[in-house]
Amino acid sequence: MKLEGKRILVTGGAGFIGSHLVDLLVAHNSVIVADNLLPERRKTINEKAEYVSVSLLDRGSISSAMKNVDLVIHLAANPLASVTASPEMIGNITMTHNILEIMKENGVSNIAFASSAIIYGNAPVPTKETYGPLKPHSLYAASKLACEALISSYCHSFGMKSWLFRFANVGGPRLRHGPAHDFIAKLRKNPSELEVLGDGTQLRCYLDVNDCVAGVIRVIESADEPVNIVNLGAGDVISVKRIAEIVIEEMRVKAKIRFTAGEPKGWKGDVRIFQPDIALAKSFGWKPRRNSEETVREMVRSLVKEGA
Ligand SMILES: NC(=O)c1ccc[n+]([C@@H]2O[C@H](COP(=O)([O-])OP(=O)(O)OC[C@H]3O[C@@H](n4cnc5c(N)ncnc54)[C@H](O)[C@@H]3O)[C@@H](O)[C@H]2O)c1
Repeated sequence: MKLEGKRILVTGGAGFIGSHLVDLLVAHNSVIVADNLLPERRKTINEKAEYVSVSLLDRGSISSAMKNVDLVIHLAANPLASVTASPEMIGNITMTHNILEIMKENGVSNIAFASSAIIYGNAPVPTKETYGPLKPHSLYAASKLACEALISSYCHSFGMKSWLFRFANVGGPRLRHGPAHDFIAKLRKNPSELEVLGDGTQLRCYLDVNDCVAGVIRVIESADEPVNIVNLGAGDVISVKRIAEIVIEEMRVKAKIRFTAGEPKGWKGDVRIFQPDIALAKSFGWKPRRNSEETVREMVRSLVKEGA
């Protein structure tokens, strides 16, 4: 689907990934941002986009925003911080169900969705989209898998088309959650010691947010099945210990790293190694410009500068 001259509704468009995506989409499309953002994030929304303040948990409030929309890009969710929080998990599923119902009522048939490669659990890496059966480790991952299933069923039952993106960790300016963000906050409080959950050997794949949004656009424009499931990642990994070292270097402090446990997992629901295979996305002519270490370093620099 060519993203030119389209009317696109971006849920969560005031958030980290959404605000970067909207910045690109507004050049050639009419964009509506649906979000219930915190007031201090209002300035992250591109001024060429229309903003509707709605809670997607309230089905009635989204209906008017859906008129004449060609594509919904559904990014709104509670962030990864709530990996084990049950009400948030149900909320994510409810939001997705609400959107699908309102799309059906308004004859809107295209949806892109931000899923996560965390749904692979402890799968062999790099993990292809065809890997299964999926056994998520956290309630957050379970909610993403449930949303994918809902969207797939609406596509097959009601003639919709979808692009389900299984993102790696995404990093860049405006991020307000995740380990690097937490490490910066901890070091601002105590610049001499940094507590790291687990033993630091957990491996993470970090995709630059600009690569992420370019990938989303490229895949929507290229993949043409009724349900398109596509991983987006950096193609490599970085350890949590290395992320901590980069934060310490970039903050120019002399902190000692203290690991909380001898076991590799950081928290219940965490996975030890996480790396989506990106061959399918590359087959559409996309490739990430930054690797995980470059992404983390650039992200930390911008977060320190933003005073995050
Ligand atoms: N950032 C990552 O590393 C990452 C990795 C994998 C998947 N994802 C997924 O990508 C999407 C975007 O992530 P992000 O990092 O930009 O998150 P974010 O928290 O920065 O943005 C999410 C946005 O959704 C909005 N939102 C939440 N609940 C809402 C509701 N009930 N009604 C209206 N708006 C609501 C928030 O206000 C926020 O602006 C999410 O679905 C997330 O699960 C993110």
